[in-house]
Amino acid sequence: MKNKIALYDRIASQYVLSQKRFYRGRQDEATRTIFSLAKNLKGKKLLDVGCGNGDQLALACKKGAEVYGIDISPKMIGEAKRSHSFLNNLSVQDLNKLRFNNNSFDIVISRFALQHLDNVEKGLGEIWRVLKPGGTAVFLVGHPFMQFLIKKHKTSYFTKNIVSVPLYGNKVTVSEPAHTMSEYLTPWLFSHFKIVHFEEGPRHAKSEVKSLDRFPLYFVLELRKNRA
Ligand SMILES: C[S@@+](CC[C@H](N)C(=O)[O-])C[C@H]1O[C@@H](n2cnc3c(N)ncnc32)[C@H](O)[C@@H]1O
Repeated sequence: MKNKIALYDRIASQYVLSQKRFYRGRQDEATRTIFSLAKNLKGKKLLDVGCGNGDQLALACKKGAEVYGIDISPKMIGEAKRSHSFLNNLSVQDLNKLRFNNNSFDIVISRFALQHLDNVEKGLGEIWRVLKPGGTAVFLVGHPFMQFLIKKHKTSYFTKNIVSVPLYGNKVTVSEPAHTMSEYLTPWLFSHFKIVHFEEGPRHAKSEVKSLDRFPLYFVLELRKNRA
């Protein structure tokens, strides 16, 4: 766990700067997709897990949500506070062990964070726990197919290893455990959530991973927490 904190603490300012320069104020397709699914935010209590520099939280706030953000990296939370001083509910937390009560949120979103977990189902379990019955989770993660192609094509798709992903024109590199689709779409997930939407992308935008515009960089799932 210390390594994960250290990774983003080490690259926080470079990550934020590279992202800003790459998008130059344009909204990226991943973010647009998240907000096309997490809609009608007015008055909703929303949590972003692995919120990074808080850009998605700022957007959700403008759309009328009461927003909360957590990230395991104190430096990333520092970047979020610096970038968006109006965000009050930011805290350093591990998404494997959230310090929120059961059934607290209407919506949980996450952009490119869950793939950093060794055990994805554990993180999804926490998201499920803090969501209200009937609540919505929208999470977007690095596509296992992308991980396989760029990082582990010399080994089996099923081999669990750490892969290094160069982002934003090779300006910053992050390492993350490789996952399979089956690690996300587990029997547990099917019994605790209804899958409302699945999408792979980006379809139109320039990929964040240099020269890899021909296959999906991410997938996104919209889930509804079962009521019973
Ligand atoms: C690729 S960045 C994405 C940040 C932001 N969501 C965005 O889209 O720009 C991944 C983020 O997940 C955070 N993260 C990784 N493991 C985490 C964990 N176990 N709990 C909470 N945050 C975590 C990292 O610190 C980092 O800020």
